[in-house]
Amino acid sequence: MTATILTPAHADAMVRVAERAAIAAQMLAGRGDEMAADQAAVDAMRTALNEIEMRGRIVIGEGERDEAPMLFIGEEVGTGNGPEIDIALDPLEGTTLTAKAMPDALTVIACAPRDGLLYAPDVYMDKIAVGPGLPDGIVDLDMSIADNVNALADAKGVSVDQLNVCVLDRPRHQKIIFDLREMGVRIKLITDGDIAGVIATTDPTTCIDLYMGSGGAPEGVLAAAALKCVGGQIQGRLIFRNDDEKTRAKRMGIKDFDKKYDLQDMCSKDVIFAATGVTSGNLLNGVKRVGDKIHTQSLVMSSFDGVVRTVTSVTPVS
Ligand code: FBP
Repeated sequence: MTATILTPAHADAMVRVAERAAIAAQMLAGRGDEMAADQAAVDAMRTALNEIEMRGRIVIGEGERDEAPMLFIGEEVGTGNGPEIDIALDPLEGTTLTAKAMPDALTVIACAPRDGLLYAPDVYMDKIAVGPGLPDGIVDLDMSIADNVNALADAKGVSVDQLNVCVLDRPRHQKIIFDLREMGVRIKLITDGDIAGVIATTDPTTCIDLYMGSGGAPEGVLAAAALKCVGGQIQGRLIFRNDDEKTRAKRMGIKDFDKKYDLQDMCSKDVIFAATGVTSGNLLNGVKRVGDKIHTQSLVMSSFDGVVRTVTSVTPVS
């Protein structure tokens, strides 16, 4: 175990934050209102964070100060006493999934000692990720799709047509999907939720070997935090669609717009990752109300001790 200011108590605290946000968001599942569901998760997460003994600071949150009233980047959270902790969060990962009561919506939070997480602007990020147990650098954003797939198949000792790749189902991924199909690779298309897509590469029961494609940069850092705990590799490169996005990135300290970030660049210190299911999915069960009790399922893991826990909680309806 390495020395860190994070403790198992912080992991417990973080999972409780994720649980409370999930319970709040699930109340709005299936109501067709993405913003209301997101707001409920944000409110619950902020209230829960402010009860934790820490000098917390949001580094990945709901947006910049002028566009997000709560959990904005730079907002201080916690009681104001205790260790200095940086927090990355996605109060509702899968706003559309929740609004439509579709599977796989999650609440997600990660934390690290101060300056341990990349300050990723809210732009897109090109991502490639694999699970643990593979040679370093086996996949690379700068390699062609064919080279990545062939290298991975070789390393796993399987033929290319036995590989499964997870990709967000978006028109912008047409070429990736075409190239993978041409090679005979199986593709799991997901409508949303690329944090879970990346985590799937770490769990042999999902059969997902590789995640690729672009999604939110904040989600990229949160996915990196998960991999830091369970092993695996991820690379990300920010995608800027206009000068405004570059200006915002510059304000957040990004100097090299073409930089390829690896796991260590995104999570340079010890980290805790927690997620709770809002709607049931491949990764976690969603919130269920049974009588006067609320059942939740969460994943919580920490890089400093390598502990991965699936936590089921029963909370009385308040
Ligand atoms: P939201 O819950 O914020 O809508 O994000 C869901 C998500 O699917 C992320 O997992 C992913 O990184 C991003 O949206 C992809 O963005 P887009 O929907 O614009 O392709």
